[in-house]
Amino acid sequence: MEKLVVTGGTPLKGEVLISGAKNAAVAILPAALLIDGVCTIDNVPNISDVRLYIDILKSFGAKVEWTGEHELTLDTTHVSASDKSLELTRKFRASYYSLGSLLSRCKLAQVGIPGGCNLGARPMDLHIKGFEALGATVDVSQGKIIAKADKLEGTSIYLDIASVGATINIMLAAVLANGTTIIDNAAKEPHIVDVANFLNTMGADIRGAGTDIIKIHGVEKLTGGKSYSVVPDQIEAGTFMLAAVATRGDITIKNCIPEHLESLTAKILEMGGNVDISSGDEIRVWCNTRPSKAIVKTLPHPGFPTDLQPQIGVVLALADGTSIINESIWESRFQYTAELNNMGAKITAQGKSAIFEGVENLYGAPVHSTDLRAGAALIIAGCVAKGKTEIYNIEHIDRGYENIEKKFRLLGANIERVSY
Ligand code: UD1
Repeated sequence: MEKLVVTGGTPLKGEVLISGAKNAAVAILPAALLIDGVCTIDNVPNISDVRLYIDILKSFGAKVEWTGEHELTLDTTHVSASDKSLELTRKFRASYYSLGSLLSRCKLAQVGIPGGCNLGARPMDLHIKGFEALGATVDVSQGKIIAKADKLEGTSIYLDIASVGATINIMLAAVLANGTTIIDNAAKEPHIVDVANFLNTMGADIRGAGTDIIKIHGVEKLTGGKSYSVVPDQIEAGTFMLAAVATRGDITIKNCIPEHLESLTAKILEMGGNVDISSGDEIRVWCNTRPSKAIVKTLPHPGFPTDLQPQIGVVLALADGTSIINESIWESRFQYTAELNNMGAKITAQGKSAIFEGVENLYGAPVHSTDLRAGAALIIAGCVAKGKTEIYNIEHIDRGYENIEKKFRLLGANIERVSY
């Protein structure tokens, strides 16, 4: 087993290069199952979720190999729904994207009921309603989901909630359907646009991704034969922006898209930090004073991302005054606050809200990473805290951040991965 040991107290300074987006990569890899041929995907983060997805694709018959440090070549000429994948797909949430792709391509798909970060109830009713509206029958029993159809017919689908997963999954299922599918009240996160761009590059006809209404004109097949590069990870970039504020440092975040982070930029400015986005594909964040209190409400894009909630929670734990976070997406995303309280924070979390009474300092302690973004928040907290913080359960962090300790170390953090 491994843990991260962080000795805090140094402002983080320097440059950090952002990897390809985890949430885009774990949707683009299964999207490749739609291609009757070969494609190359670059800027793929080498993280454990991606490595797991490679194994899942192989269990469906795909040939996948790393052809560069961050480049994958996939041959998905011969794929089929296989029950060999059930154990693997059960291991993480994004495996459900295989359902949409295989349903569209093979008219039969099955996955083990997916796990993933423990953020509260994570239903799939909207995905299933979408598949059924396209003409599929979906059976959920004995720990697996089986979707099948004789043919899929385009239709209009209204999502009650702008769900990221349902938007992508229905888009995948509709790519090879007959006629036009319209997804109304679609989610607008940057990785939805990225998946649509990938599919269009490979021969699909999808318009409107990034708006409320996505139109998918079904095509006969995707032939691939092209290369695609995954969009930079907005959440990783946001994590380092908040690390700069929390440690009162000065970080230039390279290879990112500032427009994806406008809600965070606005919040950092409100809290007294400084942000420079004049260079186009990089963001410099620096902070010379104690951040001031703020009220944060997480919302679907372009609102404040729930996946940056624990990281901004560290800043608010240290802010001057009393702050509030309202979490509107997930039921149970404040587990990290108990860990921060072990480090001296004063946070009261109840239901979907938490009150942060800002303290001057945090102190190193043994803490547990309860999920992926909580783990990132604990690294930031460890960089601020006086003394030594030991972070356990770092397998959650490795799911979504490539070379995390190396990137923090290059910014001056005293952080080591230790086996125990
Ligand atoms: C994705 C992200 C995750 C992020 C979340 C919200 C990936 C791999 N994961 O998760 O990191 O935190 O978006 O930005 O991209 N819901 C339903 N029924 C459904 C589907 C969702 O009620 O069928 C609800 C969920 O319980 C939740 C809300 O809708 O309250 C948003 O969920 P959704 O956008 O689907 O999140 P994910 O795609 O699972």
